[in-house]
Amino acid sequence: MRKPLVAGNWKMNKTVQEGIELINEIRPLVEGANAETVLCVPSTSLYPLGQHLQGSNLKLGAQNVHHAEFGAYTGEISALMLKELGVEYVILGHSERRTFFAENNHSVNKRTLTAVKHGIKPIICIGETLYEKKSEQTGQVLTTALRDGLEGVEDFSQVVVAYEPYWAIGTGKIPTLDQIAIVVSFIRDTIGQLYGEQNSERCRILYGGSVNPSNAEEIFSLLDVDGGLIGGASLKPQQFAEIVKAAK
Ligand code: PGA
Repeated sequence: MRKPLVAGNWKMNKTVQEGIELINEIRPLVEGANAETVLCVPSTSLYPLGQHLQGSNLKLGAQNVHHAEFGAYTGEISALMLKELGVEYVILGHSERRTFFAENNHSVNKRTLTAVKHGIKPIICIGETLYEKKSEQTGQVLTTALRDGLEGVEDFSQVVVAYEPYWAIGTGKIPTLDQIAIVVSFIRDTIGQLYGEQNSERCRILYGGSVNPSNAEEIFSLLDVDGGLIGGASLKPQQFAEIVKAAK
């Protein structure tokens, strides 16, 4: 059985003080929720917000991790540093990282293996651009991302894959339910072919990209979808709580 998961990606939003206020609003609204709920907050907020989340059912997530355990990597943060702060999840390979910071499946792979080694569950984002969609390359792009990005992962209960079409992120555009169902099932089948049936059954697969309270329930009800990665709506307490409750 895969436990549903809803992760909020705050991106580069909210100071510590604003984050505390946001959590104070979210916390009572998601009490008793069925889904595992994670807040992926900016690095500067990990420590204070991690403290603030204690005793709640909200878990702490980061938005990136470097592959090395320590060393001369100015500006980067290691898995050991995250672990010390109580981080349980980390987003890797988000389309914004791939687009603006030149990350690719190989850098994602190294980061993935480091995160898993240190007991932090990576949420690995994969998805096609609009150009790739229009030129019917979606299957190939996703297969390559799964093959190169997850190579060497042994236990897929420790990783999460998020299907996030680039063109759906922050745009209000969303694939049809049929399209999401087809692509997410394709992802699960491909994991099975590359890494074995057991891993394909164990792996949680999220959908992300313009999820909101009015579309969450039908997306989460799709057979192979185990929850969502939520950007904009995760900054709005009422909306985020409704989305979390839609994952049953
Ligand atoms: P969005 O972002 O929900 O604002 O579309 C999703 C994401 O970036 O993960």
